[in-house]
Amino acid sequence: LTPARQNLYDLMDKVSRYYVHQLQNHPQRQAFQDYIQQRGLSAETVAAFDIGMAPDGWDNVLRTFGNNQQSQDQLFEAGMLIKNDKGRTYDRFRDRLMFPIRDRRGRVIAFGGRVIDADGTPKYLNSPETPIFHKGQELYGLYQARKANRRLESILIVEGYMDVIALAQFGINNAVATLGTATTSEHLRQLIRSAPEIIFCFDGDRAGKEAAWRAAENAMPILGGNFELKFMFLPEGQDPDTMVREQGAATFHQLVSQAQSYSDFFFATLLSRVDSQSMDGRARLVEIAKPYLRHIPAGLYRDMLEQQLADHAKTNIATLNKHLEKPAPPP
Ligand code: UTP
Ligand code: MN
Ligand code: MN
Ligand code: MN
Ligand code: MN
Repeated sequence: LTPARQNLYDLMDKVSRYYVHQLQNHPQRQAFQDYIQQRGLSAETVAAFDIGMAPDGWDNVLRTFGNNQQSQDQLFEAGMLIKNDKGRTYDRFRDRLMFPIRDRRGRVIAFGGRVIDADGTPKYLNSPETPIFHKGQELYGLYQARKANRRLESILIVEGYMDVIALAQFGINNAVATLGTATTSEHLRQLIRSAPEIIFCFDGDRAGKEAAWRAAENAMPILGGNFELKFMFLPEGQDPDTMVREQGAATFHQLVSQAQSYSDFFFATLLSRVDSQSMDGRARLVEIAKPYLRHIPAGLYRDMLEQQLADHAKTNIATLNKHLEKPAPPP
């Protein structure tokens, strides 16, 4: 750990405490407190996730933490300041509800900030990549989930900060969120070290379904280990936050228990793209599946997927294998 990195961690910790303090003391805190209440968050939940407030204004963080060139440079490196083309420096996060993002050891490494009025854009603003924050590797809530559970049996991957937080408030404290990016194989490698079962739980909308398939694709290089990936689907228009608040933890748990296995999701998705009633459609199923199978490590799991593919295609494994070896014909 270089001194420069340690300084960034220390700085982010101080800024996070500052945002928490503002939410308790700033003259304009009421609108933020109202918003928190409207989202149904208890004081305990706000404290557990160290939710804070970036006040309105261009230079609150700059003035509070950047009183010399060196500290300004550090704030900039940490992603807390923006420089415009005229060389002016100002706070990245202004007038937002702030969610500190911690690494798995609990150090604050970045922030997400949400507008509290309905029409502000962007709705969420996240820290940029910095020396201590790499989006493709970090998972919001993993620190809290590991802290709350001596042994994690399973981890839910959800889309957003508020999903993690709302679930935790309802006692479902094993959710993590990717940070405005797709789930990467890097994320998954980390998660399978923490729990033997990973359940994707994206929003019940088109984007959520697409994110689920993208996650399935990104998972391919790590499939076949001593863990299970599952997919659960929420009713149209719901996300984990709205679902658990409207229907309660029991209903949510029931949906979790109905999650689909990786292989079922894989074949259901591919089958939906062909007419599996016809031989022609089943032959095409094999062609569609082929490039995916190549991304899965050779081993028992891939062999079993190939067996299932043969079953879905109503062919036998010998015939299938003969064709899986060859590259796909031109479209
Ligand atoms: P969603 O768009 O699903 O959030 O984004 P939401 O459920 O509508 O948000 P709430 O409930 O109104 O607060 C999910 C996640 O995608 C990222 C954020 O990480 C967010 O938590 N995101 C979303 C962004 O980075 N920027 C955006 O403008 C929107
Ligand atoms: Mn949305
Ligand atoms: Mn969404
Ligand atoms: Mn939401
Ligand atoms: Mn959502």
